Amino acid sequence: MNNVIAIDGPAGAGKSTLARLLARKLKYRYLDTGAMYRAVTWLALRENIDLDNIQGLTSLANNIDIEFSPPSGDRKGRIYVNGNDVTEEIRTPLINKNVSKVARVKGVRDAMVRQQRKLAQGGHIIIDGRDIGTRVVPDAEFKFFITASLEERARRRYTELKEKGTGVNFQEVKAEIARRDKIDSERECSPLTKPEDAFLIDTTGMSIDEVLTRVINIIRTGG
Ligand code: C5P
Repeated sequence: MNNVIAIDGPAGAGKSTLARLLARKLKYRYLDTGAMYRAVTWLALRENIDLDNIQGLTSLANNIDIEFSPPSGDRKGRIYVNGNDVTEEIRTPLINKNVSKVARVKGVRDAMVRQQRKLAQGGHIIIDGRDIGTRVVPDAEFKFFITASLEERARRRYTELKEKGTGVNFQEVKAEIARRDKIDSERECSPLTKPEDAFLIDTTGMSIDEVLTRVINIIRTGG
């Protein structure tokens, strides 16, 4: 699919920062699919749906209304669930802790993938997540798999959370990321895995500018 860029990788690898910068540079739209699974998790917790209730979660995912409003000027993009602005609330430790449990449910994934494919229509879009190159848009024009050592990913996430004023502990952040990666990689339905035809970039020790330059070079030269 022309003008579609898929970015996959584990938690904290810097996918969304890269995707945002790339979208601005190329004047593409950006779809954060992780935010959609976070949105489903937020609603499930709010509606007291047991996270082992597969049918309850599937039906919730089939009926949820998720809307994105794109960034404009200095204003960041926002995400709404059934009309509620949940932009900040989907990034809390409570959601981090539960999202992979919700995202492993096949019915939830099927519903989200359907919406993601609809949003991808028209192209000129960068999509990041865990199964974008393998399932959502396997015919994307470019696929990247962005990773980094667990230590470095945990450090980046820790710094980010601390800057937001969230009281966090480094070892806890690291354990949380490792746990999420394990569930995401071992689940039955479209697990996190590098698409065979994706460019692999290990960003350990790289700055975001270096990563962006590498990706843009690949896009310009076709790899
Ligand atoms: O990208 P982010 O860390 O916000 O994603 C949150 C969680 O959503 C992941 O840990 C994973 O469980 C789930 N996810 C997924 N498939 C995607 C995007 C995210 O399963 N395409």
